This record gives sequence, C-alpha cells and structure tokens, in this order.
Amino acid sequence: MKALILSGGHGTRLRPLTYSQQKQLIPVANKPVLFYAIEDVIEAGIRDIGIILGPNKEQVIEMVGSVEWDADIEFIYQGDPLGLAHAILVAEDFLGDESFVMYLGDNILRDGIVQHADKFGELNPDSLILLCEVEEPQRFGVADLDEEGRVKRLIEKPKIPPSNYALAGIYFFKPVIIEAAKNIKPSWRNELEITDAIQWLIDNGYRVEASIVEGWWKDTGKPEDILEANRLILDDIQPRNDGTVENSKIVGRVVVEPGAVVKNSMIKGPCIIGRDCVISNTYIGPYTSIGNSCEIVGTEIEDSVVMDGSKIVNAGRIVESLIGRGVRIRENDSKPKGHKLVIGDNSEIII
Ligand code: DAU
Repeated sequence: MKALILSGGHGTRLRPLTYSQQKQLIPVANKPVLFYAIEDVIEAGIRDIGIILGPNKEQVIEMVGSVEWDADIEFIYQGDPLGLAHAILVAEDFLGDESFVMYLGDNILRDGIVQHADKFGELNPDSLILLCEVEEPQRFGVADLDEEGRVKRLIEKPKIPPSNYALAGIYFFKPVIIEAAKNIKPSWRNELEITDAIQWLIDNGYRVEASIVEGWWKDTGKPEDILEANRLILDDIQPRNDGTVENSKIVGRVVVEPGAVVKNSMIKGPCIIGRDCVISNTYIGPYTSIGNSCEIVGTEIEDSVVMDGSKIVNAGRIVESLIGRGVRIRENDSKPKGHKLVIGDNSEIII
C-alpha cells in the first residue's frame, strides 16, 4: 500500500501566516502539522509516500528533507489547488495500480491510522472513509448513513447536514478511485471534490465502508483549530528537561529542549520550550508552545503558540495567541504612548 499526503493549497483561512508559510508547516507543539501525517502512515507500515505540493513547494521539500524518514518520499507538484480528487489525478503515475491511503496534511488524528488500515485490509472495500462526530458538520464533508450505518450519500459542506458525521481527511482507496476522479465535474467552488468521487463509487455499485474515529481528530484549517490542536497534543506530552533552568519554578509537564535557558521564571505545563530559547523574568502558562530560538523577557504568556525566532519583551499578558516567526513584540517605553503596530495584511489584533 502507498500513501498520498496532501501539502498543497493556499491556506487562505490561516492568513497572514500562510502568506509566507505553507499551511501544513505551521507547528503544533513545535512540530509541523505535516509531520504528524507522515509519522502516522509510517507507523501503519507504509514505506512509499507521495507528497502533493502546491504554491510553497520548496519550503515543504526543505522541511521534509530535514528529517531522516524510514520511508521513500516522492514529491508531486500539483500547482493550483484544483481539488482533492484533482490531487489524485496528478499523482496517477505515482499511485500505479496499488491501494493507497490519502491523508490531508493539515489533519491530526490522535490515535493514528493503524486500526483503520487494518479494517481496510479486513473488509477489503473499494474505499474506507473515516467519520467523526462533530458539533459543526457544515464545516466539512458530511455522511448520510442508512439504518445499518452504511454510507448512502456524501455532501460537501452542506447548509443542512444530514448527520453529525464529518468526513475526516483520511481516506483509504483502491485504484478505482482514479477512474472515479476522471468521471466527475468540478463543483461550485471549481474543485474536483473527493466527496463527489466517493459518491461516484457508491452510485456505480462499488463498496464504500466507514470507520468511526474514537480519539480526537482535528482539521487545522483556522487559527483557533491550531490552538486547539496544540492543547490536545500538549495534553499527552512527556516532561523532559534538556536545557538549563536557573532560579525558576517548573510545575506540571514541561519540555525544555537542548540549549534553552530558563531563568527567574515560572513555567506551568503542559508546555514546550524550544531549542536555544531564552526565557527570563517570565510566566509561561499551560498549553503554550514556544518555538526554537525565541527570547521572552518580562512577559506572561499562556495558551498560545509562538513560532521560531520571535522576541517578546515586557509585553504584558498574552493569551490564546498565534504568533508567527521572527515577530517582535515589546513595551512602548517612549512617547507618544499607545500601541505602535507594523503588521501584515489580514492580521488580527485583539487588545
Ligand atoms: O479536513 C476534512 C475535510 O477536508 C473534509 O471533511 C472535506 O470533505 C474535504 O473536502 C476537506 O475540506 P477542506 O475545505 O478542509 O479542504 P481544504 O481545501 O482545506 O484542503 C484540505 C487539505 O488538502 C489542505 O491541507 C490543503 C490540501 N489541498 C487542498 C486542495 C483543494 C491540496 O493539497 N490540493 C488541493 O487541490
């Protein structure tokens, strides 16, 4: 079996971060979201991985290439994001006539895919889709199930959802899905929808089975989703101190990476402090991930994600924030007083 991991698309709902960073590379608990997908497919024993690339393809190649994976990875350029079923067509040569799992690179699944891959092997359907009960099904593809729990119909982002079962972004397919993708038309958003391709399978008498996701599943499409995924991952973190902690109080499960220095501070877990950070006279509260090479001085920060190389000095109290790479935040200690902002397009500031 092969794996096709999608790391294309524009990530418009995560602007401004995605102006400079491919969405699947945004870190959750200091690890790019994409890496969770790669780890899951390797854990399921898959060694042939194709990664679909979009606008920022060099970034993805560089980031994936910075790790030694126990798998062969091939990069496949999609260009414009013309839909999830379009990505399958672009990967036709890579997929050949093998079954495969398609994993959306912005999805995180707590318990991985091993049990679903086993189910796909046992039931031997033409497709196995993963369903998860959610509160806002209209944000996703939604499954309409019959009395026996079999999939009758799939609808992409329905205004009136027929059930609370959202399609998680992990799908198992036999190669017939390529034929399905060739037989569907673009949707109202001008994309070849994977839901339409799976619907084509159902309508043409192919067998589509569902597997219910038991642990949590997160689509990291929006800023609040990144913060939520960060909380969920940090909830399972194992404490470790590989840095230097001086005159500070560490409470709960905290990871301090090598080269990080924590002084005269309080760190309350679960949280992670990245490599080569300097944290001083600061309070870092639960559910916070501080990226590598950050400097945080005289500040309180909680329930937030701070990305690599940012510097935050005497900035008061920061909560529920998503802070990009190389950001500078500091107290205004000159006249005139007030907030002085130099921020990118589509940023959001709540003061
Ligand atoms: O996350 C689950 C949902 O993913 C499903 O419930 C929906 O049925 C499915 O259509 C999809 O919906 P989204 O609107 O969230 O898809 P999005 O456009 O965000 O794309 C999902 C991922 O695939 C994202 O990481 C970007 C990547 N992608 C997307 C498109 C359209 C590509 O690599 N190429 C593409 O052409």
